[in-house]
Amino acid sequence: MQCTRTTTAHTIISKQSAASAFRALNGGVTPTSGSRPAFILVQRQYGAPRRQFSVTPQRHLKSSSNLLIKEFFPVKESEHIKKTPPAWHHPIYSEEQMNLVGPSHRATRNWSDWVALIMVRVLRGGLDLASGYKHDKAIALNKNDPAAATQKFAMNERKYLVRNIFLESVAGVPGMVAGMLRHLHSMRRMKRDNGWMETLLEESYNERMHLMTFLKMAEPGWFMRIMVLGAQGVFFNAFFVSYLISPRTCHRFVGYLEEEAVLTYTREIEDIDAGKLNSWEKMQAPDLAVQYWNMPEGHRSMRDLLLYIRADESKHREVNHTLANLDQENDPNPYVSSYKDPAHHPHPTKDLLHQRPQGWERDEVI
Ligand SMILES: [Fe+2]
Ligand SMILES: [Fe+2]
Repeated sequence: MQCTRTTTAHTIISKQSAASAFRALNGGVTPTSGSRPAFILVQRQYGAPRRQFSVTPQRHLKSSSNLLIKEFFPVKESEHIKKTPPAWHHPIYSEEQMNLVGPSHRATRNWSDWVALIMVRVLRGGLDLASGYKHDKAIALNKNDPAAATQKFAMNERKYLVRNIFLESVAGVPGMVAGMLRHLHSMRRMKRDNGWMETLLEESYNERMHLMTFLKMAEPGWFMRIMVLGAQGVFFNAFFVSYLISPRTCHRFVGYLEEEAVLTYTREIEDIDAGKLNSWEKMQAPDLAVQYWNMPEGHRSMRDLLLYIRADESKHREVNHTLANLDQENDPNPYVSSYKDPAHHPHPTKDLLHQRPQGWERDEVI
């Protein structure tokens, strides 16, 4: 698919990546020294496949070393298979609907909400520290000394990609764990699941597609892989135990986590609009993304892609806040249910038709 055409993607590497360890992302390319960010352009060019079953597109790193490395996950050609489409088809989003998506916060109402919110704040603080993402401090410093703020805190394409890849690699965990536990619970207790599993597994699938999309733009180095491995090991087990103890708190936790995801992608879109991410302005979405989101012709830029991903995150935010409002044992999943009065009231949908950033209350949907 992608292997037979020429594609160009840019990754910017800056010396001011906050955590030095994260510099390993692009295969250990070391930033140069100097008072201003020194940029090294990484240009990806896919060549023709060498032979069947071992398609090895190559990309040139236009750096001093001029290395040749493999594409991160090339499409394998097969004698009989033409195409393997996604198992879950993505709902169609209109541009108008996606432009309505934005940051939102659901106020805490009980101790369970507080626990969820505190956990998200702690995790977010830790990641900000590790990845050098200090948006609030950057804004404060920018008022007094814009040059210093840019040098110290400005996010660039590479920093955002590091953050996106790391976050998306853990974002697919909760839906899979929750879906798995509800599946096992249903069999163990010999009770119906009420349609929750499908939505939860689809959410984790969608998050993994976000990761696959970003991996078409950058190749993680060994340090990032270890970080992802460690984070997945810890997060999977922590979420597994937490979900057994309080599934309601876990859904609220994911709801708050997705609030942060919407915020991050909103800032990325705003930075593109402000002209701060030059290479992303010119970049086109990878084929994988175009097909998965059904991106229409003329709306396949990096900015368009971020609009789709942000909209997905807003849907996860709404779904999880809604699920946290329900009786975990007995209530049906409103997102896969049909209603007795579909014409008179708005009801939860998989697409962006009725957006409820803070979730639907139980008495509205059950
Ligand atoms: Fe995501
Ligand atoms: Fe998400």
